Amino acid sequence: MTEAELGGSAAVSAAWLAEIGLRYEMDGEIATITLNRPEKRNAQTFATWAGLAAIGENLPEGIRVVVIRGEGPSFSAGLDLAMLGAPGGDDGARKDEVTLASAATLDDATLERRIAEAQRGFLWLRRPEIVSIAAVQGHAIGAGFQLALACDLRVLADDAKLCMKEPALGLVPDLTGTKPLVDIVGVPRAIEMCLTARTVDAAEAARLGLAELVVPRAELDRAVADLAAAVLATDRGAATATKRLLQGAPARTLEEQAAAERREQAARLRELFAAMGTG
Ligand code: CAA
Repeated sequence: MTEAELGGSAAVSAAWLAEIGLRYEMDGEIATITLNRPEKRNAQTFATWAGLAAIGENLPEGIRVVVIRGEGPSFSAGLDLAMLGAPGGDDGARKDEVTLASAATLDDATLERRIAEAQRGFLWLRRPEIVSIAAVQGHAIGAGFQLALACDLRVLADDAKLCMKEPALGLVPDLTGTKPLVDIVGVPRAIEMCLTARTVDAAEAARLGLAELVVPRAELDRAVADLAAAVLATDRGAATATKRLLQGAPARTLEEQAAAERREQAARLRELFAAMGTG
């Protein structure tokens, strides 16, 4: 990867991403982001979230599919537990890394701004112009589960284990995961899963709609590549407009959705016939 491939931004160098445990690769219209701290089970820090946000902000226009994967046995063990330590503690936290204890001393507005910055790393994965796919093997705990939920689609290996651990640690899930979780499984099941912090295996995840596909561990990369190829076979403009239409559907009435369909189709038809020179 070169800086030029990420929109020429000096802020997103491969060296910086490597330092914070991320890898970014491009293959045609597909970008792959790898959580790359397998020795810490891809635990996440504020730096991880800043890196994800920077990648999102500098994503080349030609990218249509973004795959998020984790190196090693687990997709991600969630929040780096070193961040729960006291500021300056010798618990393994990087000296420049913010701990939750130091964050808690900030005033409300500053603290919420901090959390909003972290959430920026997740929110861009819903842009209509791209389709994001989480490739999940092993554990996806807390922030790891939320990162998978931030993606449009989830392909799970049969050894995947999902867990919303935050309430068990005295916290709430705050990395944009609660909305997609409720949208997919409904409020009662989301309450049950979060407040018991129980582990959901791949088979149950498929039943609940938390996985579009479950495959044997050895076939995960191939299954994700096949799904990406299938998505890319669809016309880009139609895919973007359709994703936008579907994303807006839950908040609209049937009449409003029908009107949205008319608007999107009218725009599509104009674009298609203009491209054919008959508009
Ligand atoms: N943070 C920091 N280090 C972690 C980590 C984490 N979340 N999870 C694992 N590691 C480290 C371990 O300390 C261990 O390091 P050492 O080799 O230096 O001792 C290494 O990764 C391997 O861990 P295990 O030997 O435990 O590996 P395993 O494969 O047997 O188990 C696991 C994997 C089930 C994920 C287990 O490590 C685990 O339960 N980890 C903690 C998970 C957790 O509680 N995460 C917090 C979720 S809450 C959250 O994310 C909050 C939020 O969003 C706001």
